[in-house]
Amino acid sequence: MTEPWTPASWRGKPAKHIPSDYPDLAELSRVETTLRKMPPLVFAGEARRLKSALADVAAGKAFLLQGGDCAESFKEFAADNIRDTFRLILQMAVVLTFAGGKPVVKVGRMAGQFGKPRSSPVETIDGVELPSYRGDNINGMDFTPQSRTPDPQRLMQAYSQSSATLNLLRAFAGGGYADLYNIHRWTLGFVADSPQGARYRELGDKISEALSFMDALGINAQTHPTIHQVDFFTSHEGLLLGYEEAMTRVDSTSGEWYDTSAHLLWIGERTRQLDGAHVEYFRGIRNPIGVKVGPTLEPDELLKLIDVLNPKDEAGRLTLYGRFGYDKIEGRLPALLKATKGANVVWATDPMHGNTLTANTGYKTRPFDRILSEVKSFIDVCKAEGAHPGGVHLEMTGQNVTECLGGARALSEGDLADRYHTHCDPRLNGEQALELAFLVAEKLKDDRVDLRQRVAQAF
Ligand code: PEP
Ligand code: CO
Repeated sequence: MTEPWTPASWRGKPAKHIPSDYPDLAELSRVETTLRKMPPLVFAGEARRLKSALADVAAGKAFLLQGGDCAESFKEFAADNIRDTFRLILQMAVVLTFAGGKPVVKVGRMAGQFGKPRSSPVETIDGVELPSYRGDNINGMDFTPQSRTPDPQRLMQAYSQSSATLNLLRAFAGGGYADLYNIHRWTLGFVADSPQGARYRELGDKISEALSFMDALGINAQTHPTIHQVDFFTSHEGLLLGYEEAMTRVDSTSGEWYDTSAHLLWIGERTRQLDGAHVEYFRGIRNPIGVKVGPTLEPDELLKLIDVLNPKDEAGRLTLYGRFGYDKIEGRLPALLKATKGANVVWATDPMHGNTLTANTGYKTRPFDRILSEVKSFIDVCKAEGAHPGGVHLEMTGQNVTECLGGARALSEGDLADRYHTHCDPRLNGEQALELAFLVAEKLKDDRVDLRQRVAQAF
């Protein structure tokens, strides 16, 4: 790791989950050269603003809410889908802010979340074997040899879709849609007449009352623009390093390298090898970054990763997403928290990726109760170890899909076939995600009460 870093130095290291079977590598090179000239999608200054918001999370002064599709797709690309996931995140943030009494840092798994690491490089259907689907920026979902062949032009389409998505997100975040006075308009149609919808309306009424009261005191959107707009950031797994390299630029203000494809990027559970290409690439970019932490990671290896990825111990630079599984978290997280006690890191939970199973009907799914159980255990274990439970990272959509089991409407295995649309892993639908936000909020609130009691007892 002592050799000098460049945006391309990862090419000298072993790289997992990056396709090498492009039929025409010269075409891939040409596309990467074109991408190098395309405008950046985000600015370094924005990435620094997110880093400073995450420093507040590391200090226990804010909470991270990160969510979106497992994999964005070309087919599902539509303004309504983007708007629905955006407003679901706003709703969840309101619920969490109100309960936790802390600002919520809002980050979409959006505008670039395409490439997927797969457990098997091939898929076999009825005796026919083809390369696995790897995400729309690499190959297609259709089970044909042509569709499953990696196509470099898909990188251009992914760039263009990311750019249009980000443009709309910026408009929603800053153009008045996210105005707190609109709080009642954010409810998704199909959630409106659910128990969560009713609870949300009650909360919205309280907030509207508080806003009128504040207005009477002269505090309103004109005097306080934060009532009128939100800070919203983008993120994706930095899997396809050729694309990320092409989007890496020197920031003219600081002279440092930033990956301008998203504000935050993370390294997946399957590509976090210390001597691998992904860790090499990530150590050199100055964006806030994350690493997924699964049940096999030992404390000493985590400390080595932290040394490489955050050598100056900067707050907000590094977020660790635990993704152990509801039945493993209590056995694995305490030792990791003990090991990272002195380090400036954010600990967050991804309660999705350790809780995937295959239903009898053949669908990949996740039970709501297990997702909730992992989040609750995360909060409890953090509390017991004196760490801040910093946030949640979710696969979710504003759409009314039927991909995860359970929740207030008790989705069953038989319901999965109704609207199973994901391009990869099962997502919480709008109602399940809002329900989770309420339940997590309750848990965080209990902790606040607890803290007050402890402070009271101390005096
Ligand atoms: C993901 O976030 O989609 C993912 C693949 O997660 P993990 O790296 O934790 O398996
Ligand atoms: Co996933």
